[in-house]
Amino acid sequence: MNPPRHFALIPAAGVGARMGSGSPKQYVPIAGKPMLLHVLDTFAASPIITHTFVVVSAEDGHIRQMMAGAPHLAERVTIIFNGGATRHGSVLKGLRVLSDHADADDWVLVHDAARPGLTTELIERLTDTLRDDTVGGLLALPMIDTLKRGGDDRRVQATVPRSGLWAAQTPQMFRYRLLRRAMEQVDDVTDESSAIEALGLHPKLVEGSPRNFKVTLPQDVPLAELYLKGLA
Ligand code: C5P
Repeated sequence: MNPPRHFALIPAAGVGARMGSGSPKQYVPIAGKPMLLHVLDTFAASPIITHTFVVVSAEDGHIRQMMAGAPHLAERVTIIFNGGATRHGSVLKGLRVLSDHADADDWVLVHDAARPGLTTELIERLTDTLRDDTVGGLLALPMIDTLKRGGDDRRVQATVPRSGLWAAQTPQMFRYRLLRRAMEQVDDVTDESSAIEALGLHPKLVEGSPRNFKVTLPQDVPLAELYLKGLA
C-alpha cells in the first residue's frame, strides 16, 4: 500500500469585512506580498505537501493576477472557483473537488488564508506528530491569559479556569474520508476539528506558534509584517 499523501486545502473565499480594506483580506499585502501568497509559498516549499488546493469565490477578481505573478506555483497549486457562503461551505466544496485526487487515507491540511505566519517547520511538527494518529489533529496554543466571561453590559460574569484551554489555529489535519464525512454531517462549524468532535472523536492538540495568528483587523498587519520580516 502506498504511504498516505498530504494535500493542503486553503479556504480563501471570505471577504474579511473587519479588515476594512478595499480588497478581500487574503489579498492584503504583508511584507511585500499578499497574505495568501505567503501561505501558498510555504506549502509549496514544504516537501511533504503533494499539492495545494485553494477555494476562492466564483467572482474573485484578484486570484488570476496574483497567480500570474507567481509562475513557480503553477504546478503546485490548483484554484477552485466555487466558494461557499461560510468557511465551512468553502471547505466542503474544496473537499468535494478533492475526491478526484485524494484517497480515503490521504491527509488533508486545512489552513486559513489569513494566517500568513505559518512556517514549513510548523507543518512538519504537525505532520510528524500525527503520522500514526488514528484521528488527526490541529495546531493550537495553550491559553496564557486569565479568561473572563463578559455579559451584555461588558461586566465580568465569571472567571473561566484556563487550565486545559487551548486556542485553535490551523492547519487542521485529518484523513480525507473522515474529514469529508464529518464536514458533510454538520450544518456549520468554524473549524474542522469541531466537525470531527461532533462524531465523538478527540483530535490531537499540537503546539502551534503565536506567529501563526489570524490576521483579522487592520492593526494586525504591522505585527504580521514583523513576524514575516523575522523581526519578532
Ligand atoms: O473570516 P475568517 O477570518 O474567520 O475566515 C477564515 C478563513 O476562511 C479565511 O481564509 C477566509 O477566506 C475563509 N472563508 C471562506 N469562505 C467564506 C468565509 C471565509 O473560504 N465564506
